[in-house]
Amino acid sequence: MKIAILPGDGIGPEVMAEAVKVLRRAGDIFGYTLEFEEAAVGGAAIDLYGDPLPERTLQVALEADAVLFGAVGGPKWDNQPPERRPEQGILRLRKRLGLYVNMRPATLYPELIESSPLKKAAVDGGFDMLIVRELSSGLYYGEPKERRTIGGVRQAIDTLFYSEKEIERCVRSAFDAAMSRRRKVTSVDKANVLMASRLWREVVEEVARDYPEVQVEHQYVDACAMLLVREPKRFDVLVTENTFGDILSDLAGAITGSLGMLPSASLGAGGRGLYEPIHGSAPDIAGKGIANPVGAILSGAMMLEYAFGLRHPAQAIRRAVRRVLGSGYVTPDLVRGHTGTQTVVNTRQMGDLVVEQILKEDERL
Ligand code: NAD
Ligand code: IPM
Ligand code: MN
Repeated sequence: MKIAILPGDGIGPEVMAEAVKVLRRAGDIFGYTLEFEEAAVGGAAIDLYGDPLPERTLQVALEADAVLFGAVGGPKWDNQPPERRPEQGILRLRKRLGLYVNMRPATLYPELIESSPLKKAAVDGGFDMLIVRELSSGLYYGEPKERRTIGGVRQAIDTLFYSEKEIERCVRSAFDAAMSRRRKVTSVDKANVLMASRLWREVVEEVARDYPEVQVEHQYVDACAMLLVREPKRFDVLVTENTFGDILSDLAGAITGSLGMLPSASLGAGGRGLYEPIHGSAPDIAGKGIANPVGAILSGAMMLEYAFGLRHPAQAIRRAVRRVLGSGYVTPDLVRGHTGTQTVVNTRQMGDLVVEQILKEDERL
């Protein structure tokens, strides 16, 4: 099992180190072996090779059985021309790997509700939702996409394009996921205004006919943002287009306590997936060793399960994370108000605690 490791920029390499550590140690216990190959991406690759996705990096990713990705971007490269921004590293990689759906589970463990910025009444008992984000189309990739000057006036165009095929394959993934969860799908759109959203809603209705056991609802994206804050427990699977999914998943991250908590799996037809935390390179805390590695560690667990069918080790990692956080160990981003029952740890310590917990559980078995 060959894994491409693309740490990227800012806190990317910091959280990646912990994910790799946890994957290795869990492998020792559960008897699987992963082969890691590292390559440069994003700003780090611009500095080395003048390209956010150098040919060698693309080859390493294409030849691997799965890709583990950190984060890219940072103020140092913000003024690069559009095609040489670090973010092109991940956008081109998604395209080249044919990744069209992005699974972003957002879980608030009952033990952690103090870390959520929401009132206790709204999150009592925790919540467990899955945001299914379309990843290959929409505003991100639609043509034309350009800057121009007409009559001395600067203009810019991005195109919100969707074909029914692109919508259908994403929506099917969401319904499939709902079948092994609580069987509820919330489709999020802006069908009161946008053409692309009206087509989205139509296709959702068509796909829904194949899943009579699944309860379907439609929400406008603005109302959905409100509902996520007011009533997060009402959601099971949310499915939405690329841009809305990007925005709503940061919101979902925040209400679990921190953006640093959320993992993701980007999947395509080939089965070769890319696994990454949903957060960015966090320039404000990069280099301090205090980033929350949980999103990256849980992305590693998603990789074990989705790419290699290793459910038991994946579950063991998730359980370990939950136990560690439940015992009151938190990185600074999870601290809220009084820290009486919390012990603040750094990135490396959090990774070590998760490893320790996996070992402890192994001894108990
Ligand atoms: P960000 O996600 O990097 O950070 C937003 C806030 O959340 C910051 O205050 C940050 O400190 C905090 N945060 C994020 N992850 C954290 C973690 N693991 N632990 C603790 N705190 C964490 O978003 P941003 O600041 O808007 O973007 C910074 C750069 O990252 C930009 O260049 C952006 O384009 C890029 N970005 C990359 C990815 C990716 O590589 N997939 C994702 C999002 C943003
Ligand atoms: C994400 C990020 C990326 C996106 C950026 C870095 C291109 O925000 O993965 O959520 O917008 O998809
Ligand atoms: Mn994002």
